[in-house]
Amino acid sequence: MQAKRRSESALTMTQIVLPAHANLTNTMYGGELMKLMDAAAGLVGMRHSRRNVVTAGTSQISFIEPILVGDLIFCRAELTYVGRTSMEAYVDVTAETVIEGITKHVCKGYFFLVAIDEDHRPIEVPPLEIENEKQKRIFEDARARITYSKEHARTWLLRR
Ligand SMILES: CC(C)(COP(=O)(O)OP(=O)(O)OC[C@H]1O[C@@H](n2cnc3c(N)ncnc32)[C@H](O)[C@@H]1OP(=O)(O)O)[C@@H](O)C(=O)NCCC(=O)NCCS
Repeated sequence: MQAKRRSESALTMTQIVLPAHANLTNTMYGGELMKLMDAAAGLVGMRHSRRNVVTAGTSQISFIEPILVGDLIFCRAELTYVGRTSMEAYVDVTAETVIEGITKHVCKGYFFLVAIDEDHRPIEVPPLEIENEKQKRIFEDARARITYSKEHARTWLLRR
């Protein structure tokens, strides 16, 4: 399969925060934000693989600053790693106050995705083309994170 560049699948999803997304103090629910991040990550995986994908896990999700009703949020997602059937996407979120134009970095995290066929079985995806040293380092960091997560899942299952 022909390798594909990270830029071919990267995208930004934008949403205005409405009262329905927020709690009684007008702060956006973490779950609502994660839903948008998950959708952005999934679409990146779909654009890379041109397959359906499922989210198999998340890691290192940090809520850095509160997001308020009326803020415009930008969810930037791009692949960090591609295995045989799995992919990892990094999602970075900024929020902008529409009138003042003040931007803040509000959230970030990793989403682990698996491409699936019509029978919901994992299916092979194109490799990720590594274009420079920075992308190589990001890829290796992701591989280490995924190896740790697999080992953690295995020992956790053994303990149950
Ligand atoms: C994700 C899912 C398809 C994986 O099925 P599976 O039979 O465990 O698949 P495999 O064992 O073949 O693993 C698939 C890939 O995930 C990786 N993987 C499996 N378990 C892992 C773990 N705990 N941590 C990291 N990677 C893992 C495998 O290494 C493999 O990657 P590779 O092909 O790139 O090497 C299945 O667990 C599933 O359907 N989960 C529910 C997903 C879902 O409904 N999400 C919410 C809605 S989108």
